[in-house]
Amino acid sequence: MRIVRAIRDLELAGEIGLVPTMGALHDGHRSLLRAARAENETVVASLFVNPAQFGEEGDLATYPRDEARDAGIAEACGADVLFTPDAAEMYPLGFGTWVDVDGLGAEEAARPGHFRGVATICLKLFNIVQPRRAYFGQKDAQQGAVVRRLVRDLDLPIEIRLLPTVRDTDGLAWSSRNVLLSPAERAEALALPRALRAGADAFGQGSDPVAAARARLNGLTPDYVEILDLDGVTVLAAAVRIGTTRLIDNVLLEGELT
Ligand code: PAJ
Repeated sequence: MRIVRAIRDLELAGEIGLVPTMGALHDGHRSLLRAARAENETVVASLFVNPAQFGEEGDLATYPRDEARDAGIAEACGADVLFTPDAAEMYPLGFGTWVDVDGLGAEEAARPGHFRGVATICLKLFNIVQPRRAYFGQKDAQQGAVVRRLVRDLDLPIEIRLLPTVRDTDGLAWSSRNVLLSPAERAEALALPRALRAGADAFGQGSDPVAAARARLNGLTPDYVEILDLDGVTVLAAAVRIGTTRLIDNVLLEGELT
């Protein structure tokens, strides 16, 4: 696996699968990398902690970083290239073009400007790497919808592959931010997937999933619990804050992931 830091040094050939990440790689990222490996000639993983999509300074400062570990994981999952530019490479002096995607849900309301940063960096990565396919996780369902809209609206010749959320054995969705939780906070965090599961069960029985999920949050205060319609797929999504760490998760209510 080659580690590349400069855009001009990316010499890529063949049909490319791109897995954009911010590092601190875990089983969710592994699943995307393995899918990309199975479906493409060349696999590029990107590792860039994108300042433009962070609101609070503290969140960017504490975001976990370990390039050597990430390189080992990416290589073991079959990546051919790890593209890991610095901020000056992606946002050089004079940078001033941003992508705004309309029609965003509660996550945008809770983190104003977040998806503008996500859409802009994804478009840049798509233009730089020129992948045939790009891989995203259902864990960030609204992000997946934003990227699909970006690709559709701007006629990008890329297939967006959305893969199911990978969970740890206790049910908590893998997230780079999980390592920031103390053991006690991690135990508290389990209420999030349990509440969402309770919401999905309630939905199956014809009652209100949002009320059922809220009732099972076990004292966690959510930023939101809401039903999202994303391209024909309905999910129940929630965000909670545990100490200084913010976690998001969602479960499928109706429709099929494609
Ligand atoms: P990051 O949080 O590193 O996630 C990279 C990709 O992994 C995203 O598509 C995310 O949805 C997926 N992912 C995260 N946790 C997952 C899980 N438990 N199961 C399955 N997939 C999971 O999302 C970002 O980075 C950034 O916003 C990025 C798209 C790289 C743009 O900067």
